Amino acid sequence: MAIEKLKKIWLDGQLVEWDEARIHVLSHTLHYGLGAFEGIRAYRRADGRTAVFRLREHVQRLFDTCKLIAMQPEFTKDQVCEASCELLRANGLTEGYLRPLVFVGDGTMGIYAPDNRIRTAVISWKWGAYLGTTALEKGVRTKISAWVRHHPSIALAKGKIMGQYTNSVLAKREAKIAGYDEAILLDLNGHVCEGSGENLFIIKDGKLITPPLSSSILAGITRETVLQLAREEGIPVAEQLITRDQLYLADEAFFTGTAVEVTPIREVDDRTLGEGKPGPITTRLQERYFDVVKGSDESHPEWLTLV
Ligand SMILES: Cc1ncc(COP(=O)(O)O)c(C=O)c1O
Repeated sequence: MAIEKLKKIWLDGQLVEWDEARIHVLSHTLHYGLGAFEGIRAYRRADGRTAVFRLREHVQRLFDTCKLIAMQPEFTKDQVCEASCELLRANGLTEGYLRPLVFVGDGTMGIYAPDNRIRTAVISWKWGAYLGTTALEKGVRTKISAWVRHHPSIALAKGKIMGQYTNSVLAKREAKIAGYDEAILLDLNGHVCEGSGENLFIIKDGKLITPPLSSSILAGITRETVLQLAREEGIPVAEQLITRDQLYLADEAFFTGTAVEVTPIREVDDRTLGEGKPGPITTRLQERYFDVVKGSDESHPEWLTLV
């Protein structure tokens, strides 16, 4: 998906011209991958106003990621929140995606570079359905990856740490080259973790099940949103380990994520799930999610930051 050039990018406290937001090739993060990022969506709501969905929670997770990798941003959480809204306004974006980054600048080379400046950026762009609108309507075909999700002694799955995403890129490429839409990664014990950039849910006998936070998964903000909406809908929920065979035998399954929103999974490893189309619980939760983020359901004003 090519990105359409907009006017401004927020870099280290200032709005700069899109083409002027440059960094040096000696930037430490470019070499070693230590850095934090986020992905946030803003929606144009039914009443015409623009609201960022769960901005504070995303910025909190950005700072949590920084804590995991012992990196101190130069800016506060409030400043990053304000920068995000300011950027949307400056770019005239009523709907779109925000990508905050915290990374290590240039100066010293080598693994240990404690004095390099910690840079902060926020980028925004227009982004439609991540896996396409057909994916949202009909569901996606998935493949269990040959790549294993991060072991907790090797990586910090609770962080959106840039370098860790090579694992996701390898899994995604493998799935796409083999003709599937998305990858599903297991842990070393064979338990289902998540997609390359999304959390995973299954439905079995009317119960909604997703791996617990103690698994090697990102603590997805959409995951948490959907768990909350499911409880409100009276759907029984459980956070428990899922095996590959439980996934194959699920009645329904779906991905959640800021990018994929709520995307049904219709196939895993060439096995059709349920009827091979979005099931009733997936459809209900997907509708509820879009109603909440797009504003026809006003039950969660605490999740919205008006721009
Ligand atoms: C690996 C991974 N899992 C899950 C998610 C979903 O998280 P969220 O719902 O907070 O966007 C993402 C996206 O940020 C991700 O990169």
